[in-house]
Amino acid sequence: MKSVCIYSYGGPEVLVYEDAPRPHPDAGEVLVRVHAAGINPVDWKIREGHLKEMLHHTFPLVLGWDVSGVIEALGTGITRLKVGDEVFSRPDIARDGAYAEFIVIRESELALKPKSIDHIHAAALPLAGLTAWQTLFEAGGLLAGQRVLIHAAAGGVGHIAVQLAKWKGAHVIGTAAERNHEFLRKLGVDQVIDYDTERFEEVVQPVDVVLDTRGGETQERSWKVLKPGGILVSIASPPKAEIAAAHGVRQAFVFTQPNAVQLAEIAKLTDAEKLKVIVETILPLSDATRGQELSQRGHGRGKIVLRVI
Ligand SMILES: NC(=O)c1ccc[n+]([C@@H]2O[C@H](COP(=O)([O-])OP(=O)(O)OC[C@H]3O[C@@H](n4cnc5c(N)ncnc54)[C@H](OP(=O)(O)O)[C@@H]3O)[C@@H](O)[C@H]2O)c1
Repeated sequence: MKSVCIYSYGGPEVLVYEDAPRPHPDAGEVLVRVHAAGINPVDWKIREGHLKEMLHHTFPLVLGWDVSGVIEALGTGITRLKVGDEVFSRPDIARDGAYAEFIVIRESELALKPKSIDHIHAAALPLAGLTAWQTLFEAGGLLAGQRVLIHAAAGGVGHIAVQLAKWKGAHVIGTAAERNHEFLRKLGVDQVIDYDTERFEEVVQPVDVVLDTRGGETQERSWKVLKPGGILVSIASPPKAEIAAAHGVRQAFVFTQPNAVQLAEIAKLTDAEKLKVIVETILPLSDATRGQELSQRGHGRGKIVLRVI
């Protein structure tokens, strides 16, 4: 099968498009024929070795942990899914990814893909969808009527988080560059903040939840926009408990986990037209290098997806 893998950590030049053996499913796993694979910042962060202390990958490593495709074969003990099912997943990031014609995935990490969208869009949804769900609802405990500030609201995670927060009934404030303001208003953002020309901490009324997708200075400046007892949830860098305590607020760091039940909820919301994933760029699998370079620039709207079939 064709795949895009790395044999060492490094820049975009270490990505290799080549023939590789087709993997085989063991007990509790299925073989998925990949139709499309989403690109996420974690792909190039792993390629550059930033997560090597946390994830003990072996080479060659196939990158890409967002996938939509069709079940080709079953390992033993599979009860919920069958050959021919259209599925999507954010598979285990410790294993080989989806920049390939086939991937083996545990049944527990797969859900039926939304019926109303194609594989390209379904492949853009799992990682960002699960991240938004786990940050806003599990860690953040966001409730109807609460206020949430979402940083980088036009990005892959941000544009899904905006829609899930609106579905929950929250008041949503989002930061973005000017070119994305109209896009955010159409998604339902109640207050759009231009991070180039405004200091969000000077224009935002206190919020219950901050979704920090940036870390660094953005995180430091976010403490003061929280209500007493509010929570800052970061996916960019672990916030310090003592700083949160000094501000009379709470903090959490989320590293997104596979979750078939939450994926099924996300599929249901998509089919009910409550959630729409935006794909800005579609590239062939052989152009994964270009896709990662675009992702690394950090100014995309919505998602980048590799077409495999
Ligand atoms: N911990 C986890 O499990 C986890 C899960 C998912 C993602 N992440 C991390 O979360 C981050 C975001 O992921 P993503 O997929 O959403 O990335 P992305 O799609 O690449 O995000 C790009 C967005 O960032 C915006 N942006 C750039 N500079 C900004 C600034 N100074 N202030 C506000 N927005 C800014 C851009 O908006 P403009 O075009 O408007 O500038 C663009 O829309 C990445 O670092 C990723 O690795 C972590």
